[in-house]
Amino acid sequence: MSFVSFENVSLAYAPGGANAIENVTLSIREGEFVAVVGPSGCGKSTLMKLVSGLKPPSEGYVFVDGREVGGPLKIIGMAFQAANLLPWRTTLDNVMLPLEIVEPFRSNLKKEKAKYTADAEALLAKVGLAGYGDKFPWELSGGMQQRASICRALIHQPRLLMLDEPFGALDAFTREELWCMLRDLWQQQPFTVVLVTHDLREAVFLADTVYVMSKRPGRILVRKEIDLPRPRPLDVTYTDAFAGYVHELREHIGRIRES
Ligand SMILES: Nc1ncnc2c1ncn2[C@@H]1O[C@H](COP(=O)(O)OP(=O)(O)O)[C@@H](O)[C@H]1O
Ligand SMILES: [Mg+2]
Repeated sequence: MSFVSFENVSLAYAPGGANAIENVTLSIREGEFVAVVGPSGCGKSTLMKLVSGLKPPSEGYVFVDGREVGGPLKIIGMAFQAANLLPWRTTLDNVMLPLEIVEPFRSNLKKEKAKYTADAEALLAKVGLAGYGDKFPWELSGGMQQRASICRALIHQPRLLMLDEPFGALDAFTREELWCMLRDLWQQQPFTVVLVTHDLREAVFLADTVYVMSKRPGRILVRKEIDLPRPRPLDVTYTDAFAGYVHELREHIGRIRES
């Protein structure tokens, strides 16, 4: 039983225009960690818009949790390359923002304020931001802002977390720290992840399944299961098995770029 599925999905931004993605079929089970890789402009963000109901497909069907997607879904949390924290709110108030919007949290917010605040503080602590709740975004490093942004995406306990190149703007060391943060969050609390990334090592380290997309119009070229045992320590990235996966994906991407 799949949790997210695409059946022959195409999307053209202009009616009758060229497809941004074409004939995409895929199936994601609940709890799966999926990474989507492909060259810039191949339709990765478009795929995210289709899952989250921000765009309807031009052709085909998108299902989430057994229902055809017909508009924005509240079981989804999202984070992007830019942390996009509101500069006039503290880190804690940024993390709690979805609770002011998404039901049933919105209706219970007054009554449950103390509990929700404690939950948000606990989540910040889990990602290494204990004690930073009252800081403003500009008082945090880029990596800390991205940690907070992922807390905001998870505070309403979404069943599906959508991440669009969330670590793309960070340095290599910070990026690896955030891989481990995401791995631990996902290991502790079951949710489904769709991670869009340029970084093949990131995809192999984190994902159960990696999809490689072609150049525009984006199609799924390869679906690769990553059979590295879990939990995966960062050291796994130095093993031959890991390098083998990265090389294999790299070759697929290389072929796309030459074609
Ligand atoms: N809102 C839009 N209107 C028209 N074209 C768009 C829009 N968003 C994206 N595109 C086009 O669709 C293609 C896929 O874009 P996108 O999904 O953002 O790619 P990626 O995230 O893989 O870089 C690109 O050619 C892009 O120019
Ligand atoms: Mg994109």
